[in-house]
Amino acid sequence: MRAVIDKLYFQNNLTNEELLALLNSINEDTKKYLIEKAHETRMRTYGDMVFMRGLIEFTNYCKRNCRYCGIRAGNKLADRYRLTDEEIMQVCCEGYELGYRTFVLQGGEDDYFNDDKIIAIVKAIKEKYPEVAITLSIGERSYESYRRFYEAGADRYLLRHETASKELYEKLHPGMSFESRKKCLHDLKKIGFQVGAGFMIGLPGQTNEDYVMDLLFLKGLGPHMVGIGPFIPHKDTPLAGDIGGTVETTEIMLAITRMLLPNVLLPATTALGSIDHFGREKGIKAGANVVMPNLSPTIVRKKYALYDGKICTGDEAAECRKCIEARINKAGFNVDMSRGDNLVWRRI
Ligand code: 5AD
Ligand code: FES
Repeated sequence: MRAVIDKLYFQNNLTNEELLALLNSINEDTKKYLIEKAHETRMRTYGDMVFMRGLIEFTNYCKRNCRYCGIRAGNKLADRYRLTDEEIMQVCCEGYELGYRTFVLQGGEDDYFNDDKIIAIVKAIKEKYPEVAITLSIGERSYESYRRFYEAGADRYLLRHETASKELYEKLHPGMSFESRKKCLHDLKKIGFQVGAGFMIGLPGQTNEDYVMDLLFLKGLGPHMVGIGPFIPHKDTPLAGDIGGTVETTEIMLAITRMLLPNVLLPATTALGSIDHFGREKGIKAGANVVMPNLSPTIVRKKYALYDGKICTGDEAAECRKCIEARINKAGFNVDMSRGDNLVWRRI
């Protein structure tokens, strides 16, 4: 398998068969080599820098019913909240003071925040802080909506594809289609956003064949960012009794993704940090180069519960800022507080 890993390292590509053979035969030894090569790749592209993004979870209302997600509409036990425009600006102000130059506005699919409201928020932030990058992560909308967000000044958009298996996708997302998901991602790219796709690890019934589809889907799409994290069951969802994803599989997917897309911005996710005390460090060592500490006010943090056991729900933004920098340094990397755009992106 070393030859296959070398091919991945030098050519940034593998066939369906090679990827499947790699996943089916991976052991401690080859995993170690894979991670070494992913690390070399990131050192060539972004060096030892890890970009920081301030995450603002501004609404946990959601009209969708993703079977794994704690804020699904069907979860009547979720304690719902929306931040006001003033609260969002306050959080940005605090984040800016802490040095953040990217704000990620994430929420459920909440019709209350219609296009005009989102545009007003984006414009208000850009007016006050023209040099920050704004990332939106608010689900599926029309081409026209996305276009207007971009025109208002949003720079990036995160929309994980969740799983590239159409069958598994449609099982997990009642009333949604994988075709619409793909269309959104292509629309976002066409408009000019830095686009983030990504998938979960360890979903019920997910196989190595499915991961190969995820990896080749990413290679075909060519996103600027990729979010990969373990599925973690949430007690008030239909998947409460299922088993979640592992650190090991997540590390493997991060490392392969780093080599398939050498310039990609790849977060060590909060979910990975939640299943292992050193999960984020392990992710960074496997090729991840972004972390997204939470900036949301502590009073609402526990309420944005996509899964059980989420870390940092009791910590102030300033504590997370310090904690994560210390962790990154201890792991042998450095924090980069700049906007941290993808190396090959320019606003058009
Ligand atoms: N476990 C892990 N990740 C989850 N997400 C949603 N629910 C869960 C869960 N139970 C992820 C999805 C979504 C992102 C914001 O959080 O991939 O795109
Ligand atoms: Fe809201 Fe999944 S339940 S995006």
